[in-house]
Amino acid sequence: MNRRDFLKFTGVGAAALFSSGLLPARASSMEPFVPDAEISITALEKYVPILSGAQTKVWSYEGQLLSGSGVTVQNLSGTYLGPILRAQSGKKVRIFFHNNLAEDSVLHPHGLRVPEDCDGQPMQAIGPGQTKIYEFEVIDRAGPYWFHPHPMGRTAEQVAMGMAGLFQVWDPTEELAVPGASTGANDIPVIIQDRNFDSSNQFLYNPNMLWGYLGSKVLVNGQANAAFSLEPRAYRLRILNGSNARTYKLAWSNSMPLKVIGTDGGLLPAALSKSYVMLMPGERVDIWADFTSVAGRQVILKSLSFDPGGMMGGGGGMGGGGMMGSSLANGASFNILTVSVGRKATVKPTLGPLPAIPTHFDASNVSNFNSPVPFVLAMQMGMTWTINGRVYDPMDVAADEMVYRDVPIAWEWINNSSIPHPMHIHNVMFQVLKRTPPSSTSSYNTVNQGFLDTGWKDTVIVWPAERVKIAMTFGPHMGMYMYHCHILEHEDMTMMRNYMIMDPMMPGM
Ligand code: C2O
Ligand code: CU
Ligand code: CU
Repeated sequence: MNRRDFLKFTGVGAAALFSSGLLPARASSMEPFVPDAEISITALEKYVPILSGAQTKVWSYEGQLLSGSGVTVQNLSGTYLGPILRAQSGKKVRIFFHNNLAEDSVLHPHGLRVPEDCDGQPMQAIGPGQTKIYEFEVIDRAGPYWFHPHPMGRTAEQVAMGMAGLFQVWDPTEELAVPGASTGANDIPVIIQDRNFDSSNQFLYNPNMLWGYLGSKVLVNGQANAAFSLEPRAYRLRILNGSNARTYKLAWSNSMPLKVIGTDGGLLPAALSKSYVMLMPGERVDIWADFTSVAGRQVILKSLSFDPGGMMGGGGGMGGGGMMGSSLANGASFNILTVSVGRKATVKPTLGPLPAIPTHFDASNVSNFNSPVPFVLAMQMGMTWTINGRVYDPMDVAADEMVYRDVPIAWEWINNSSIPHPMHIHNVMFQVLKRTPPSSTSSYNTVNQGFLDTGWKDTVIVWPAERVKIAMTFGPHMGMYMYHCHILEHEDMTMMRNYMIMDPMMPGM
């Protein structure tokens, strides 16, 4: 099926642009693709131990390095989580994605800029037994990217069944700043997820209509009651909120600040000291955690209590646990990870100079800096989540969803709904320019010191009644990509749209 034949455009001139055949055309299609490394990733069903007693049926990714160098594949044993892929920036990767599930799936490389046909959008899903080949150069800076399924209407449940993995990109600049970046020697992945289980230890997927899927058990790297034994020295904690819907307010139990060195798009220009960090689904944060001062003791990574919003028309709060399909309310306080710190350190890694971020968006380089394109987040009658009043339609791109390659542009998320949304854009990193807080700040004040608004982001928290202005430069790849709420049930339920990156040199546009 030729997807382009089915596209219907509401933007003036776009149809002409398409029929000219000049878009999107993969830049690389002219020359043969010569990979530095070839990898296979297989989606399959298996059983893993999570709780004591019966093993849990999960869907998982298994990886294998087939040939080449510059990329490593580290499978994690005894968990449903997929492999950690670690690639040097600039490497060319070919991935054979085999779908051994009994339903359609597709793999999406979250945060990476890849050609349109490698983005893993719903329309690119493959059926059971099929293989999709991805070929792309890793052009992004060092950073904590990840991958997960993205099939039509089934993303949330496939992720809930276990499908997710890390795609860590490193480069020599990062290695200078953070020792061991290239090998992960000082890295500790901390993938935070929540799940409900039935009485036979099987995943129970029972999402709430408003909030999405909230589990009453919090897992780290696929393990319940997670506990690490670490040395009294510094580690890099590479935290991913891989949950479908839950928001975390991360803090140390002993009130030591979180030293933030990186976000979605890699290292910050300077470490930030935060008493807590808010992390919504899809977001990442790199923490430089130095346990030297807590030798011989325990420290717990917690989620602190906060008010997630959810008031409906001024009526009673929907924040009660019982209303969410989980006994653990969104905004409740709980432990995530217990770190038992030993008495002896074998190495003493220290942080080097963090890399500058030369790009700064302002009125001099963003022509619509003072009039960002508005994207209104709302719930319509009948519990339909919308963006600018629209729902997901794989064939549709509207005029305000068309952007030019290499031309900086500002967008503004406007949350007219009662709950927070983590807004994600594929194939780009943006910077947060400005937050306009809600007029009523009782919920906001429980979270707003924890927002991560420096550095490069691909997913940003937009609190109820808040506006968040961002700016970015799309490219180098052109074509159709997507943006959506990363509460996966909202995404599957329609809170997702296409956007189109076009060539600014096209006459008449
Ligand atoms: Cu992790 Cu379409 O996103
Ligand atoms: Cu994505
Ligand atoms: Cu949402």
